[in-house]
Parts: sequence; C-alpha cells; structure tokens
Amino acid sequence: MTLRAVGRDEAETLAAVHWQAFSPGWSAAELSELLEGPGTYALLAEDADPVGMILCRAVAGEAEILTLAVVPQARRQGLARALTLAAAGLARQAKAEEMFLEVAVDNLAAVRLYESIGFRRAGLRRGYYDRDDGVRVDAAVMRLDLNSVAL
Ligand SMILES: CC(C)(COP(=O)(O)OP(=O)(O)OC[C@H]1O[C@@H](n2cnc3c(N)ncnc32)[C@H](O)[C@@H]1OP(=O)(O)O)[C@@H](O)C(=O)NCCC(=O)NCCS
Repeated sequence: MTLRAVGRDEAETLAAVHWQAFSPGWSAAELSELLEGPGTYALLAEDADPVGMILCRAVAGEAEILTLAVVPQARRQGLARALTLAAAGLARQAKAEEMFLEVAVDNLAAVRLYESIGFRRAGLRRGYYDRDDGVRVDAAVMRLDLNSVAL
C-alpha cells in the first residue's frame, strides 16, 4: 500500500473512493472546490487500485479532518490509521498545534479509530447529521493535540 498527496486533478479518483464509503458520497466537483481552498490537502491510499482517502485543512494553527474513507474490501488493515497519522504529520508541518473532526456518535468504527490515535471528545453538536430516515444524530467534536502524539 502506498500513500501520496493528490490535488484537484485527481478529484475523480477521490470521489470514486468516497462514494464506496458514504451514501451519498461527495462529487468530484465538490472535492475539487474544497481543494481550491487555503490549506486544504488530500491523501490517497492505493494498492493495485485506490482504496482510501483523507481530506484535511490546516489554517492558522488549527487543522481539521473534512472527510476520511476506506473502501469496504480494504477495511481493518490499518489504512485509516495510516491516512490519519500521515495527515496529522502534514498538519504539524503546516504549523498546526491541534486537529479537530466531527463524527456521528453512532459511528463506532470511526470513534474507536480516532480514540486509538489519541483524539478526545471536545464537544457535541446535537442533531448535526440528518439521516435518510429522518432521524437526526449527534456529532461528537474530537480534538487531537498534535504536540502530544508521535507522528
Ligand atoms: C471508519 C473507517 C475509515 C475505518 O477504516 P479502516 O481502514 O477499516 O480502519 P483501520 O483498519 O485503520 O482501523 C484502526 C482502528 O480503528 C478501530 N476500528 C476500525 N474499524 C472498526 C470497526 N468496524 N469496529 C470497531 N473498531 C473499528 C479499531 O480500533 C482499529 O484497530 P484494530 O483493527 O487494530 O482493532 C472505515 O470503516 C470507513 O470508511 N467507514 C465509512 C466512512 C466513515 O465512517 N468515515 C469516517 C467518518 S468521520
């Protein structure tokens, strides 16, 4: 498996990975627009094919994970951990001191992944996600002190 930084010219590939993990996923146009913004960067994980992606932003000492996706057939092999740690390392290189994300409180796979890296809950956004069935789910805001982890 290899990880590499990708730009807007590979937004289609990022979207193809994202759609295998989210319904609906983000379009290539949306991802491309996000990548135009200041401090935004993406990493792609590849085996023979693209298998994972992460999109982040690091501005003014703070970084944020905007989205993270691993295709179903490549899960539980440490890919999301590798993508998150690599993205955190890049955030630190960009002089960020802390990294934030939002995750649905019922997304146990993601919550456990982030906790295992050192993210801790810093807040709660009530009813943040609107599910297809009309149910609203809270988002946990999680924070990682980038100076406290070995990257
Ligand atoms: C969440 C997601 C990115 C995890 O990707 P992954 O590559 O399978 O994760 P990793 O293999 O790096 O797992 C690292 C750790 O996270 C936790 N974890 C990951 N998947 C888990 C699951 N299904 N159940 C419980 N814990 C899980 C475990 O602690 C795991 O360590 P272990 O395998 O040594 O037990 C992936 O399931 C996914 O794309 N889900 C859909 C999209 C999504 O929810 N993205 C995150 C939104 S914030």
